[in-house]
Formats: sequence, structure tokens, C-alpha cells
Amino acid sequence: MTARIGPGRVRQGIVYREGTLGRRPAVPTDAAELERRARRRMSARAWAYVAGGAGEGATMRRNREAFDRHAIVPRMLHGVVERDLSAEVLGTALRAPLLLAPVGAGVLVRRDSDVLIAQGAAAAGVPYIFSNQGCSPMERTAAAMGDTPFWFQLYWSTDEPLVDSLVGRAEACGARAIVVTVDTTLLGWRPRDLNLGSLPFARGQGIAQYTSDPRFMELVRARAAAPPTGPAPRVTLGAVRSLLSIAREHPGGLLANLRSREPRAAVETFLDIYSNPGLDWHRLATLRARTSLPILVKGILHPDDARRALESGVDGIIVSNHGGRQVDRSVASLDALVSIRAALGPSPTLLLDSGIRTGADVFVALALGADACLLGRPHIYGLALAGADGVRQVVENVVAELDLTMALTGSASVAALDSTVLAR
Ligand code: GLV
Repeated sequence: MTARIGPGRVRQGIVYREGTLGRRPAVPTDAAELERRARRRMSARAWAYVAGGAGEGATMRRNREAFDRHAIVPRMLHGVVERDLSAEVLGTALRAPLLLAPVGAGVLVRRDSDVLIAQGAAAAGVPYIFSNQGCSPMERTAAAMGDTPFWFQLYWSTDEPLVDSLVGRAEACGARAIVVTVDTTLLGWRPRDLNLGSLPFARGQGIAQYTSDPRFMELVRARAAAPPTGPAPRVTLGAVRSLLSIAREHPGGLLANLRSREPRAAVETFLDIYSNPGLDWHRLATLRARTSLPILVKGILHPDDARRALESGVDGIIVSNHGGRQVDRSVASLDALVSIRAALGPSPTLLLDSGIRTGADVFVALALGADACLLGRPHIYGLALAGADGVRQVVENVVAELDLTMALTGSASVAALDSTVLAR
């Protein structure tokens, strides 16, 4: 996208014009106020899950502090009046170097979350990475994307046929890449959720990719048909309600066909197989022969792991500490990006996830070697405040600030950004 009046001025124009009519943006334009206002709209369980991080939250803080250690140097009288924000990552054309990160269990925040996020992403023209822990079947979310590209996040199950089934469905419904998330073979220690005794998946929230999957439902039916062994696990009223509400939202979905013992069996089957602590490089390497889509690995923080991933046949790396949700006192993702780029050189595709809140953050990440960035919690806050349009506005705000930062530093294109725009 190249334009004299770039997205920054367009967005300012809309907001200030509305202001003259006495209307303020429903979605705050800064990250802190966005978060504060979204919190008021979210239940305690939703807030704990979305905003919470691992342990004492040190990794989340460090993600932000890493950005604070870099300074942009504005440049004057450069005469740059047009900016090209476009990028291309592994065959996916980007209007701006930004994608929406996969966030699970969005139904905690709003009914039909994934479809609303997809509509918001499509309206803003940025790709959305569908969560493997999403709340509507990927085929339905895909339909809401229109022509805007989307990728699919894969959590590697202990059931290999399920891995193939999810990847096959992603290909069939039009995903342009598979994002294997490798940092969550177990859930990290998350006190906010733990203190509420709240795991959305155990209540049937965020398992729609599974309950809409034929292979998964085979496993569920086998389990439901087996004679019960030992004491029956407790299934809360909340779990049954959540499953029923998913069934109501997707009348044609497989979940609607669940018979009496199956809701419980679905949750139990999911809890048994959803992640695979035994996943290793050899198994990861098998994915190359199982899909023709580009593969990215998300959750890499060490240069040796990045190298190993590329040797395993993946096409790109997403440097991420999972938004600080997995290991407390972990290295900041931005710092890891710098060391991985230094070790691997300019060629490999590196995306940055975790800690990005603003357009200026995206600018810094690009200057330090990212090819594009993922935006996580902020789009969920937009969803909480104003549904699909809230998601769109959050994205527009970030892109607007990126554009203005480029304008005020004399940066003509995303492709040409490098560390010379930062103070030494
Ligand atoms: C993964 O799905 C998470 O909860 O971070």
C-alpha cells in the first residue's frame, strides 16, 4: 500500500472529524486505556485467561521493557511523502507487516469470537492466524475471512491421525500456512487461572476445532462407548452449558450430534490428547511431507532452536514467548529476535510475537530484523469492547501509528527498514 495520504492521516482524520461531532472513539487509541476499558467488559475468568501470564508476570514485563531499551531517531527534511507498508511473508501478501495472533477460548470474551475476529481482520485487511483452541470450526471462521488470507495454528496432538486431519482441513478450507506452536507442550504455571480454578478447555470452551473434527469425534465416540472405569470424573454444569452453547451456535456441527455421554467424553478426550510433551525435532520434520503449505514454527527463543527448526524443513520462525504465558522470567521475545537474527543472518523468515502493543513497537521490531509482527491481546481487547469493529479499529490504530512513525523518520518502505533508524 503506497499513498500520499497514508493510513496514519486517514485514521487521524476519521477520529478528529468524529470528535468535532462530540464522538470519542469507542476503542481507545493507546494500549493502556484499551486494556483498562476492556477489563471492565470482561468476566473475572476471561480477564484471568487473556491478560494473565506465567508466574509473577516477569516475562510479560520484560517483553515490554525490551522495547523500552530501544529508541527511534526521528529524521527531518527527508522529503519522504509516500510510504510502502506492504510486505510478503512466505507467499502471503500483507497490507502492513502485521498478523493477528492465535488466541484460544475467545468465547470467554464474546460469543462467536473467532468469526468476529475474522470479520474484523478482513475489514482491516490483515491475516488472522486461527487458533487451534478456537471457538468455531475453522471452516466457519474461514468463510468470514472473505479474500483476506489466514493461517492455521497447530498444536501437535498425541494422536497423529488428528494432526493429519487438522492439517488437511486447514488446507481444504484455504489456509495459506501452518503455524506449529511448540512452546506449549504443557500449559505454563498460570496463577490467575489457577486461583480461579479456571481452565476454559475443561469447560468445553476453546475446543471447537476438535469437536468439529471427524477423527477427534471417532476418539470421543470410542471413549463414550467404553464402559466407565473408576469413579466418574466431575463434569460441571458450566462444562455442559458451554458445550450446549457451542452446539447451539453451530447447529450443523458435529457437536450437535453428541449423544448423552459424549460432552463429557469430548472434554476428557481433549484433555488427554491435545498437546504432546514428547514432540521432538524428528517428529516435527515429518510435517514437511504431510502438507504442501508453508510451515512456521512459533515459540522459538534460542538461535540453536531456530537453526534446528529450519533444518527440520520449516519455512519460517515466529520468535515468541507466548505472550509471557508459558515460562516466567523468560528472555524477552524482542531480545531473542535480535540474537536469532544475528546468528542466522538476513535470509530466514523471522516474525515477532509477544509484547507488541503499538505501531511504534512494530517499527522497532522491523528495524531489529523482524519481517512482520503478530498482535495478540490488543485485538482481544478490541473484541471485548466492540466486537468485529473493535478488532478492526485496534488494527487500524496500530497500522496508523506505524505509518506515522515511518513518515516522521523518513522511512519510505517497510522492506528498507533497518537498525539505522534506531539510536546506537
Ligand atoms: C494456549 O492456548 C494458551 O492458553 O496460551
